[in-house]
Amino acid sequence: MGQTVLQITDCHLVRAGSKLLGMDTQASLEAVLTHAFTNLSVSGIVVTGDIAHTPQRAVYRRFFSTLKQFSDAPVLCLPGNHDVVAEMVAAGLPMAPLNLGAWSVVPLDSHIDDMPAADVSAQNCHDVREAMTATAARHCLLATHHPLVAINSPWLDKDRIQNAAELLDSLRKPGPAGLADKLRGIVFGHAHQEVFARLERLPLFGTPSTCFQFMPGSTGFTLDERPPGYRWLRLADNGRLSSDVCRVDFFPEQSK
Ligand SMILES: [Fe+2]
Repeated sequence: MGQTVLQITDCHLVRAGSKLLGMDTQASLEAVLTHAFTNLSVSGIVVTGDIAHTPQRAVYRRFFSTLKQFSDAPVLCLPGNHDVVAEMVAAGLPMAPLNLGAWSVVPLDSHIDDMPAADVSAQNCHDVREAMTATAARHCLLATHHPLVAINSPWLDKDRIQNAAELLDSLRKPGPAGLADKLRGIVFGHAHQEVFARLERLPLFGTPSTCFQFMPGSTGFTLDERPPGYRWLRLADNGRLSSDVCRVDFFPEQSK
C-alpha cells in the first residue's frame, strides 16, 4: 500500500491563444497530463508554483478545469514568484495540506507576488510547524516553489530559499515529539530541470517544468531543449519515499 503523488510545476500559463517564449504552455501542460495519466492511478497532485505567467483569475480557472479533466484526485496548489495569491484564491485553487493516509503533503509558501526571490518568513515556518502538528499523518512531504539549496546555476541560485536551516530548526523547537522526524523529503519547482540534492539527511527533489526547461549548470538564462516533464512520488506507509521524473516523448511545437 501507500500513496502515489504526481508533482507538476511551472506551467506558466498565459491568456488563451497566446504563447510564451514561442511555446503554447497550455498545450504543453495537456501533453504532460495525457502522458502522466495514461496508466497510473493517482492519490494526490501537488503543483509547486508558477502556475500562471499571466496571473489572472481566468487563467487559474482554466488551469484547474484542465487538471480536473484528467483526474478527481485531491490537489494542493502552491504559489510561485509569477503567481498572485489573491487571484489563485479567487479562482478556487485548493491550497490546504493534502492528507493521504499515513502521509501529509505540507505547503511552504516561499513566494512574494511578482518578485523572483524567495522569502520564507518566521510566519511561514510557523505555518509549516502548525500543519505538521495538526495532521494525524506519521510522515510529511514538504512542498514549496523555490529550491532550498544551490543548484549550480547562479542566476537561479540567487533567488533560492536562504534560510532553509532556520526552517528545519523551527521544526526542532520543543513541542510535539518527533515533529522534525516526520519530515521525509522536500519537493520544489522554479528550477525548470530535474534536481536531486540533500539538506542534512533530507532528500530534495526539483522537477522539470510542464513547459520550457532551463539548462543545468547555466550561468545566465539559458533554455534547454529537453522536453517537458513531471515527477512521481511513491510514499510508502512505512515512511519510505521513492521518486522519478518522466518526460513527454516529444518537444511541443516552439516557434519564435
Ligand atoms: Fe517558473
